[in-house]
Amino acid sequence: MREEKTLIIIKPDALQRNLLGEIIARFERKGLRITGLKMIKLEDALLDEHYCHHKGKPFFESLKKFMKSAPVIVIVLSGLNAINAVRLIVGPTKGYEADAGSIRGDFSISGQANIVHASDSSETAEAEIKRFFKPDELFEYKRADFEFIYGEEERGG
Ligand code: CMP
Repeated sequence: MREEKTLIIIKPDALQRNLLGEIIARFERKGLRITGLKMIKLEDALLDEHYCHHKGKPFFESLKKFMKSAPVIVIVLSGLNAINAVRLIVGPTKGYEADAGSIRGDFSISGQANIVHASDSSETAEAEIKRFFKPDELFEYKRADFEFIYGEEERGG
């Protein structure tokens, strides 16, 4: 177990459906620390880079159109094993296959309009955080409830 940072993107469908507060609250309540947060409008260059592994797939252009259809919220979350913990909260890609209780399971029934993106490994998390945030846009602080979120050994003794 180790302290990790991961990136999420709250997608245009969540913004249009007034789900921002609900989604951010789920990560806060889990005990994750919000280390960076901003609203941005995605453009082609950034999307081509972010989704380069999907280039050539039939849904690539419609995915880009969807992601440009409204602003998105990008957030860096920190915590113990944060990358996997966040992926469990988000659920698998297709909303109609996601378990109830996960964000996609509760709010999406689509393979594309799936509410939120989350980094899938430590390598991707590092690259995605750099892609969307400058170092001075990330903030280190201790949550006031830190002692109650982690056990003694997890807090470093
Ligand atoms: P995400 O896993 O965050 O990143 C890739 C995105 O591509 C995925 O979420 C969906 O929004 C989208 N996507 C993946 N598969 C499909 C598909 N078959 N059809 C349309 N969009 C898809």
